Amino acid sequence: MRKKIVAGNWKMNKNLREGANLAKELKAAMAGKTVNCEVVVCPPFIHLALMSIIFEDKTIKVGAQNCADKPSGAYTGEVSAAMLASTEAQYVILGHSERRAYYGETNAILKEKVKLALENKLTPIFCIGEVLEEREADRQNEVVKTQIEEGLFDLSADDFGKIVLAYEPVWAIGTGKTATSEQAQEMHAYIRQILAEKYGETVANETSILYGGSCNAGNAKELFSNPDVDGGLIGGASLKVDTFLPIVEAF
Ligand code: 13P
Repeated sequence: MRKKIVAGNWKMNKNLREGANLAKELKAAMAGKTVNCEVVVCPPFIHLALMSIIFEDKTIKVGAQNCADKPSGAYTGEVSAAMLASTEAQYVILGHSERRAYYGETNAILKEKVKLALENKLTPIFCIGEVLEEREADRQNEVVKTQIEEGLFDLSADDFGKIVLAYEPVWAIGTGKTATSEQAQEMHAYIRQILAEKYGETVANETSILYGGSCNAGNAKELFSNPDVDGGLIGGASLKVDTFLPIVEAF
């Protein structure tokens, strides 16, 4: 059975002290609770090592939001996949629409990042999704297909089996305008069909596909009840225990 995952993407929020406080609060709130999904927290780089200490019992996993497309060397300001692994982070978000739109990350660059993440035993949470104009032109399927093909389809079936996908329609991110349950299910089923055509039914059925974009306590249950929606990548609502925990508990 594929993994159910709720991952919080803190984006560029929380200083070191605030991040530590939120992590400790979340850990305390989850203590003794039975949770039916993997819970992942993806803070900014500077928090990672500390998060791994706070979450040392691994009931909550730690992920990064990006990594370099080069293994090491003279790349000022970059953080390598090997460095992330050394903090005991287990996941890394790659190809978030904000990285694609504001930092020029192309599918070709992302392909390198995915390779390096896998070499360092990190699980990529690979983000895909169309912008509003593409949705309005009914082009969402071809856009998502190209992102997957160009970013991931040079992987072996074995390596592809280590990937988590996150469908995040860009028009739903931070807008309060969630995709409807039907829109999410329709796209997730389409993605699974593309995976089945390339890698076969087994790989397709075992790949976790998360939904992201204005997911909150009020809509998580309905979104996650769809057969092809395996969890969520949560932005704004991951910044407070009160708004994040109910999403985790939606499973
Ligand atoms: P919001 O939940 O704030 O819409 O952000 C979604 C997102 O981009 C998660 O990666």
